[in-house]
Amino acid sequence: MYTINVSHLTFSYKNKNSSNRVLTDLNLQIKEGEFVCIIGHSGCGKSTLLGILAGLLLPDSGRVLIEGKALTGPGTERAIVFQHYSLFPWMSAYKNVLFGIQQARSELNKTEAEELARIYLKKVGMDVPSTII
Ligand SMILES: Nc1ncnc2c1ncn2[C@@H]1O[C@H](COP(=O)(O)OP(=O)(O)OP(=O)(O)O)[C@@H](O)[C@H]1O
Ligand SMILES: [Mg+2]
Repeated sequence: MYTINVSHLTFSYKNKNSSNRVLTDLNLQIKEGEFVCIIGHSGCGKSTLLGILAGLLLPDSGRVLIEGKALTGPGTERAIVFQHYSLFPWMSAYKNVLFGIQQARSELNKTEAEELARIYLKKVGMDVPSTII
């Protein structure tokens, strides 16, 4: 079974007056453990494809299976590193990390989410003194 199985994927960016077709009948199969680079000229749709695989963009047609299951949206088993900064510049590093945790882990209460944010920041050498939060 493929970990990622994309078939006949089509995607267009739409606004009020126009529609810009970016992906047409794209097919891609990736097995567990494969390391895949997607290469192409600027604007060919690489980030768009990754946005679809991350569940952030909905294709017009076609199918994406992740470990055999149809993709329905974002999930904690997939992650994307954006090519441009995707932080809230007016918030501290701690608050940026906390925001992501609160979005992804709604079952946690505020204290648990704060504790997790501290744990993740500590993993990358960013201990957060309680006085600066
Ligand atoms: N939000 C958007 N609304 C409308 N058009 C978009 C949007 N994002 C990207 N596009 C257009 O879709 C096409 C594909 O863009 P995409 O960002 O996927 O390309 P890319 O291959 O990642 O390019 P790069 O190598 O520059 O990162 C481009 O023509 C781009 O201008
Ligand atoms: Mg890109």
